[in-house]
Amino acid sequence: MRTVDLILRKRGGEELGVEEMQFLVNGYTSGEIPDYQMSAFLMATYFSGMTDREMSALTEAMIASGQTVSLSDIPGLKVDKHSTGGVGDKTSLICAPIAAAAGVVVPMISGRGLGHTGGTLDKLESIPGFRTDLTVEAFRAQLAEHGLCFIGQSDEVAPADKRLYALRDVTGTVESIPLIASSIMSKKMAEGIDALVLDVKVGHGAFMKKQVDARRLAQAMVGIGRRLDKRVQALITDMNQPLGYAVGNALEVMEVSQTLQKAGPADLTRLSLELAARMIYLGKQAASLEEARKVAEDRLMDGSAYKKFKAVVQAQGGNPQALDKFELLPNATGMREILSPRAGYVSAIMAEDIGRASSMMGAGRGRKEDAIDPAVGAILEVKVGEKVDAGSVLCRLYYTGEENLDEAADLVEDAFRISGARPEVRELILEVVS
Ligand code: URA
Repeated sequence: MRTVDLILRKRGGEELGVEEMQFLVNGYTSGEIPDYQMSAFLMATYFSGMTDREMSALTEAMIASGQTVSLSDIPGLKVDKHSTGGVGDKTSLICAPIAAAAGVVVPMISGRGLGHTGGTLDKLESIPGFRTDLTVEAFRAQLAEHGLCFIGQSDEVAPADKRLYALRDVTGTVESIPLIASSIMSKKMAEGIDALVLDVKVGHGAFMKKQVDARRLAQAMVGIGRRLDKRVQALITDMNQPLGYAVGNALEVMEVSQTLQKAGPADLTRLSLELAARMIYLGKQAASLEEARKVAEDRLMDGSAYKKFKAVVQAQGGNPQALDKFELLPNATGMREILSPRAGYVSAIMAEDIGRASSMMGAGRGRKEDAIDPAVGAILEVKVGEKVDAGSVLCRLYYTGEENLDEAADLVEDAFRISGARPEVRELILEVVS
């Protein structure tokens, strides 16, 4: 079998078989297939798509690229949550400790920033000392002790996704249903879970711009879960403006801390609670979804979720004090205000552009080997529907270098649409697929 022939066949829209998918995944994971050939295959997939059979074969080959962690000796149901990617989307850091505080065991394998979206691992690593590269043994030990652990794909677990994810990030091949579904489901199925809650984002700041595509992605992932005997529920949620106010790694950790202390933005709190409630329900810590919603709210309100998060930060080598004293987090050296050019209502905030600007300032990667700058990003001052005056502050950009600052500022200025009429309120949670 030759890689170039498989690239040509995918480019021509042909269906590849199980062994061919295994050849590609194993060859790339072992380093025998070079980045340039895998990039070409990913781009061919981006344009040609995959059949359900191919998507299953790809996912299973990716799961088999590493070990599947057995958590059966740890009591309780194991439930994880994953988002398909958004801007300012920090719900994992809120719903996971809420669910864990309610008794669910949450093994969470997350990703880094992808395209214009942020990644849970990059956010966590902005907490000084926080380590996500734990061994499987350390992962299991922490789950047994705290009921929650955050790790990334590694050479042991989901190594194929680790390599493909980093390559897709810098080759313009992220927005593909089979590539997103196989990436998410391979790492989630490798971590020994019983059930999974998915947040499938739709809108300007999401990889799926249309609800019909978000639904197809959700159905694809729920279908993969069903075939592998796992309960999977997907929420389709709006990503037409950033979630919360903060975009950028350390800035988002600050907002997580505020939210876990009951002082978070309404949209972020609401969605995090709903995701946590579904984890609690699937984890059988409540008899109904209604009851699970009440449990989630109680665990947030009584401070136990915040306590859980701090314990996990400490257990993973991070400094939990940084969650209360933000000066201990990486801080930007400069700030630029973006002002409203006119009075009116904020009718849209083009989320992808805010994510792109933040990435351009250093929060994301342009090349695989790039280091990110945890301190930079944006804090919105207003959300869609709010009234603004001419010259009032729409957003503040936090930076450490001025290299791409002007370009980022232009992008953010254009991202805010101001109109004379009050816009219609959009629903945050649009659909449930299960
Ligand atoms: N999250 C992932 O883990 N993979 C993707 O491709 C997109 C979001």
